[in-house]
Amino acid sequence: MTAEPHAPPTSNPCAAPAAARTGSGRAHAKAILLGEHAVVYGAPALALPIPGLSCTTSAVLSAQPGHGLTGYRHRTPAGVASGIGAQAPKALRHLVETMLERFRPGEELAVELALDNGIPVGRGLGASAACARATVNALDDLLRLDLCANDVFDLVQLAETQTHGRSSGIDAWATGSNRPVLMTSGKVSDPTVATAAWVVVADTGETGSTKNAVALVRETFRLYPDRRADFLSRSGTLTAAALGALDDGRLDVLGRQLTANHRLLVSLGLSTPALDRLVDVALRHGALGAKLSGGGMGGCVIALTGTPQAAARLATELARQGARETWTASIDEQGDDD
Ligand code: MEV
Repeated sequence: MTAEPHAPPTSNPCAAPAAARTGSGRAHAKAILLGEHAVVYGAPALALPIPGLSCTTSAVLSAQPGHGLTGYRHRTPAGVASGIGAQAPKALRHLVETMLERFRPGEELAVELALDNGIPVGRGLGASAACARATVNALDDLLRLDLCANDVFDLVQLAETQTHGRSSGIDAWATGSNRPVLMTSGKVSDPTVATAAWVVVADTGETGSTKNAVALVRETFRLYPDRRADFLSRSGTLTAAALGALDDGRLDVLGRQLTANHRLLVSLGLSTPALDRLVDVALRHGALGAKLSGGGMGGCVIALTGTPQAAARLATELARQGARETWTASIDEQGDDD
C-alpha cells in the first residue's frame, strides 16, 4: 500500500482560501453478535462496536468551481484510490449531493473528501457504514449543521441502501455507538450487560458480499417460505436467550447461543469452509462460543471469551491456524441504571 500524506485532494492547495475549514468525522467497525440476516426481517439482533478499527474522513470546500463531490481520496487496508468526484463510489457521491441539496439548497458548493479507512472491506465489519458515517460527520462539521443522531442515521442508511440494497440499519447505528446495540423491528436499544466479556474477531481473508448474501437469503425464503418462519423464529429465540445470558452474566450460556447461531447460518448456506474451520479452531481452544459474523459467505468469525488473557491466547492460536488478522473488542459491564 502506498504510504502518502493523507490530506484532502485539493487540486491546487495554493488556490484555497486562507480561512478554508476542514471538517472531520470518525466512525468505527462493528461485529454482529447474534441475529444477522434475521434482523433484515424485523427479528432481533445484537451488534458490538469495535472502536479499535475505524474510518476517519476529512472534508473541505474546494477552491475550484463545481458542485457536489469533485475530488476524493480513499485509503483502505488494500491500498489507495483517488480521483475526481465522478470516480468516487456512487454511495459517497449521492451522500454529498443529498446533504448539499438538503442543507445548502441553491448554493454552488464543491466538496473534496479524504477517507482513511482502517476497516477491512467485505469482511462483515461494517466498513461501508463506518465510511458513510465518518463522511456524514465530516460534512456535518464542515457545514456546521449540528445534525441530531436520527438525521445522521438516516443519511448513513441512504448510503447503505445504495451499497447493499435492503439493509436493516443495524450497521448504521452500531458504527456510531460505544455500547452494544440491540435492534428489534428497526428500533434500537441498549441491552443490559452484567459481566464483561471479550470477543476475538478473526478474519478468514475471504471477501464476502453482504448484498449477495442478503439476496441469497431472500431468494431462499421466496422458494421455501416455511424456512423463513423457521429461521426467524430460531434466530429470535437464540438472541432472546443471549440477552438473558448477558443480563445474568452467564457467559457460558451466551457462548452456546453464538455457536447455535453459527449452525443456523450454516443451514442457510452462509458459511464457507474457512469460516467453519476458524469456528472449530476457536471452540477447540477455549472459546465459550463462536460463529461467523455479518453477511457471511466470507469475512470474519467472532469467538467469545471471559477474560482478556483468554482472548489474547485465542487470538494467537487463530492467527497460527490461518486467520489473516485478529482484533479483540470488549463487551463492557453495565447495569440497569447506568
Ligand atoms: C450485516 O452486517 C448484517 C445483515 O443482517 C444485513 C443487515 O442487517 O442489513 C446481514
